[in-house]
Amino acid sequence: MCGIVAYLGDKQAEGILVEGLKRLEYRGYDSSGAAVCNADGQLNLVRSVGRISNLAEKLDKGHLSGTAGIAHTRWATHGAPVEKNAHPHLDHTGKIAVVHNGIIENFGSLKKWLISKGATFHSDTDTEVIPNLISHFYHKEGQFESGTTNAKKLEMATRLALTELVGTYGITVICSESPDMIIAARKGSPLVLGVGDGEYIISSDAAAIVNHTSRAIYLGDNEMAVVTRDGYITSTIDNIPVASKVEKIEYTLDEIELANYKHYMEKEIFEQPDKIRACLSGRIDLNEGSIKLGGVMDHARELVQARKLNITACGTAWHAGLVAEYIMEELAMLPTEVDYASEFRYRNPIIDQNTLQVVISQSGETIDTLAALREAKNRGALCIGVVNAVGSTIARETDCGVYLHVGPEIGVASTKAFTGQVTVLTMLALFIARRRHMSQQKLHTYLDALNRIPDQMAKILEQNDYIRQTVEPYCDKENWLFLGRGYQFPVALEGALKLKEISYIHAEGMPAAEMKHGPIALITKEMPVVFIVPKCSQYDKIVSNMEEVRARGGRILAVATEGDEDIKKYAEHVFYVPDTLEELQPLLTVLPLQMLAYHAAVIRGHDVDKPRNLAKSVTVE
Ligand code: G6P
Repeated sequence: MCGIVAYLGDKQAEGILVEGLKRLEYRGYDSSGAAVCNADGQLNLVRSVGRISNLAEKLDKGHLSGTAGIAHTRWATHGAPVEKNAHPHLDHTGKIAVVHNGIIENFGSLKKWLISKGATFHSDTDTEVIPNLISHFYHKEGQFESGTTNAKKLEMATRLALTELVGTYGITVICSESPDMIIAARKGSPLVLGVGDGEYIISSDAAAIVNHTSRAIYLGDNEMAVVTRDGYITSTIDNIPVASKVEKIEYTLDEIELANYKHYMEKEIFEQPDKIRACLSGRIDLNEGSIKLGGVMDHARELVQARKLNITACGTAWHAGLVAEYIMEELAMLPTEVDYASEFRYRNPIIDQNTLQVVISQSGETIDTLAALREAKNRGALCIGVVNAVGSTIARETDCGVYLHVGPEIGVASTKAFTGQVTVLTMLALFIARRRHMSQQKLHTYLDALNRIPDQMAKILEQNDYIRQTVEPYCDKENWLFLGRGYQFPVALEGALKLKEISYIHAEGMPAAEMKHGPIALITKEMPVVFIVPKCSQYDKIVSNMEEVRARGGRILAVATEGDEDIKKYAEHVFYVPDTLEELQPLLTVLPLQMLAYHAAVIRGHDVDKPRNLAKSVTVE
């Protein structure tokens, strides 16, 4: 949610830190700050409320000189978004600065104890206990043998402090008495160490690193990196050496630049034809009539023998899971249950060795999804990741998985990740189905239809202007309904979520038939109702629901199949999608809804990529 950037090298740190923060701004954006050590061993700090541009403006007035520094963009958890709560936080001596992602659950008792030892506090955050705890051990008489260097003292004090913390953290630490060293450590919150040429960039997200180097070490949980001008050492928090692997960051700078688009969300909507092509590439083979998913091949037997599938995810990924429930039961004939990851642990999920657990996450870092994964693993399920971010915690902790390959998603409202997730889950269902019972001919029909999806998506995107013009007169309506049946029910939920999160319009998605059990009371001409009604097995029933809305004066917009002229009798406006197999329709019908939400938000004057109160990656429970 929050973002961390740290730099140690031969360049001035300030510009690199601010640029890195800008790349992370999508993760959280209510305040920010930076602390840099200068050549005289002074630690200087600047913090600001609001966007990174406010911090940059402040820095213009008196910059931070030095080649080692740490910085942070915050999404408030403990303490309001005011300057005193922005990171970095200093210990009470002003020598040690820390930035932190995560939550320290026992900060209350630690704070009390530190105050009793003479520490003073200036913020309402949980984070401030970390520099003070490090400081306590660093300064404690008799803690270290005489002759211990300041650098060694800082490292040891940090290790001691971290063992006292309950909760989650990704931190970087800098100290004016060891100006050539940065410490990074993580437990439950990601950190990546970029290894450049004579320089190191540490960040919570590879997006802040990729313009400096494509070589990176993804720190594991409970691991620490001590970075100096001579190199780096990785170990566990309790000082057992770790042989870390330098990996290649999978994407390029182009993929995280806006190019000619106004917003990342717009760019990501329009990337879908290419990205879904990339997602399918090398996995479906039309000539051979086969489906290859390298990441799950070693577990093919368990997949085929499974008796039950549990899916856990949050937000948009949960909607993709709901689509997969229909697909898995239809194609793979595998009983499937879908849970909010945040609820999964609080039931008593029945899991045995014949249960597969599919964990869906764009970021691979959502804390509730990670916790659900760990719970399922403890109970003995084979865990399969459907993840976008390569090297993320969920990708690393699952037994096997299939990456989306849709490139980094930066817009807070998820778009290409949803279609990527549904594509991967469809391939997974076909992979299992073919090995269980599906005929070669039937598989071929699905592969052929999947292969046509990217071009069909491109055709839908041509309606962009029409969708903008259509939505404009409805933008003052504060309540919307999205209705669909079968495969289109999760799409209705996703359409409503997109509208809510970026345009701040109240919207509800539900199965079309459920409307009669309450929501129909709300229908007036002030409430637009969007029906997702492609040609499908429940078409006639949905049309009846449209009649019911029309009879009560409701204003209807519809997403329908090309060539369906009849639907115009019921809907004032129709967004057409090309025909495909019913199981694949969500991959197409969701696109007009993404565009509708995008245009509504722009017309209403909102910052689409940075919607209020939201974060791209939710790393707190
Ligand atoms: C946040 C984002 C959503 C996303 C959800 C799950 O709420 O704003 O767009 O769907 O987290 O994220 P994940 O990275 O696990 O897919």
